[in-house]
Amino acid sequence: MPQVVTGMPGERPAWASGGQVGAGRKNRRVDLEQFAALRTPEGSAALDAAAGVAGGDPLAAAVALRSAGVPGGLAAAALTQAELRRRATGKFGPAAAGMFFTRPGLEQATRRVVADRRARRLRAAGVRTLADLGCGLGADALAAARAGIRVYAVEADPLTAALAEANVQAAGLADLVTVECGDATAFDVTGVEAVFCDPARRRAGTGRRIFDPNSYSPPWDFVTGLADRVPRTVVKVAPGIDHALIPPGAEAEWVSVEGDLVEAALWCGELAEVSRRATVLTGESVHQLAGSGTHEAPVGAVRRFVYDPDPAVVRAHLIAELAADLDATLADPTIAYLYADTARRTPYARCLEVTDVLPFSLKRLRALLRERRVGRVEILKRGSALEPERLRRDLRLSGDQPASLVLTRVATAPTVLVCRPVA
Ligand SMILES: C[S@@+](CC[C@H](N)C(=O)[O-])C[C@H]1O[C@@H](n2cnc3c(N)ncnc32)[C@H](O)[C@@H]1O
Repeated sequence: MPQVVTGMPGERPAWASGGQVGAGRKNRRVDLEQFAALRTPEGSAALDAAAGVAGGDPLAAAVALRSAGVPGGLAAAALTQAELRRRATGKFGPAAAGMFFTRPGLEQATRRVVADRRARRLRAAGVRTLADLGCGLGADALAAARAGIRVYAVEADPLTAALAEANVQAAGLADLVTVECGDATAFDVTGVEAVFCDPARRRAGTGRRIFDPNSYSPPWDFVTGLADRVPRTVVKVAPGIDHALIPPGAEAEWVSVEGDLVEAALWCGELAEVSRRATVLTGESVHQLAGSGTHEAPVGAVRRFVYDPDPAVVRAHLIAELAADLDATLADPTIAYLYADTARRTPYARCLEVTDVLPFSLKRLRALLRERRVGRVEILKRGSALEPERLRRDLRLSGDQPASLVLTRVATAPTVLVCRPVA
């Protein structure tokens, strides 16, 4: 069994993710106390009662719990937890109802559908034991265990580690996951077949995002150095990661869920299969586009159909690969709208039919939309500094027809495409 350094110094580290109430020592103790209270039979009853009233007026919910005889402190803790569980349903589905969260922990947690996919890929690569270095509330550790992997999860923040442990128990996976409170950088990785690290990218207290990887925790040097020590390493990173930071030889994967870009992951060593991958999750389907990320799509004129690529494809620099699939071209080499003569169904882009192409002019656009009796517009934009909401107001629409407006540049000229859905 790998060795873990347990116990942390008295002060909460600056990057620690726990703490609903605040970042001070006193508050952390209060949080741990509240959590311990929630784990008692009274706490459990308070949680059940809170689940019934959460989501409505917070004051009325507090009054309802107090009049049911729940003491003030416990009622507040239960209501906070019930509210977090409600919000977590989007990420975790019905399982959220039995899990424990902090707000920052929930914000940073990997959504279940993404974590499960990653875990299945690891298992398919032959991984049977995994260290999750900085496990947070345990979303990735739980997914790995569901895939049949033995997980050693390490978390530096005591409250977060306690919640992760509770989440493991709630999932009935205690046989497969060990949660240790300690510093991941001191974890002995020689005893595991693979490591996963999802460094903290938000500051405690403020919750502000950290954009400089050198300020991640564990630090970027440690994270990227893992790949030299463990041949099967996966690192979750911000989707906005600078491509220059991707270690040579690693596979960089961007993942979108229902059109929202949610994360990027670096698959290092033996786990790298391609150079760049865009994974598009929609409903129950998984679509993957792969390529070098270095090719450039051909450039041509605006054509009858415009494709707005999925953000995972754009971030993975796979526009050229998608263009080849769709027999499409760009109208500006720096803007990721693709144009084609035919409309094809693709999971990697939304397709619209272009009815009009205008050099951008508010007056002309307003006149055209009035003539078409357009009263509702959705506004898409790439390569335009215009503010969609301001434009919408300035258009003073009054008809009953819908239209899509694409604000962009064509060969450097500000242009608006008036579009309709593909039949
Ligand atoms: C982004 S979160 C992990 C989220 C997790 N993958 C999930 O989906 O629930 C990063 C976690 O790493 C922890 N952390 C940061 N530095 C650490 C270190 N040196 N050792 C252990 N844990 C650390 C933070 O407290 C935080 O909970």
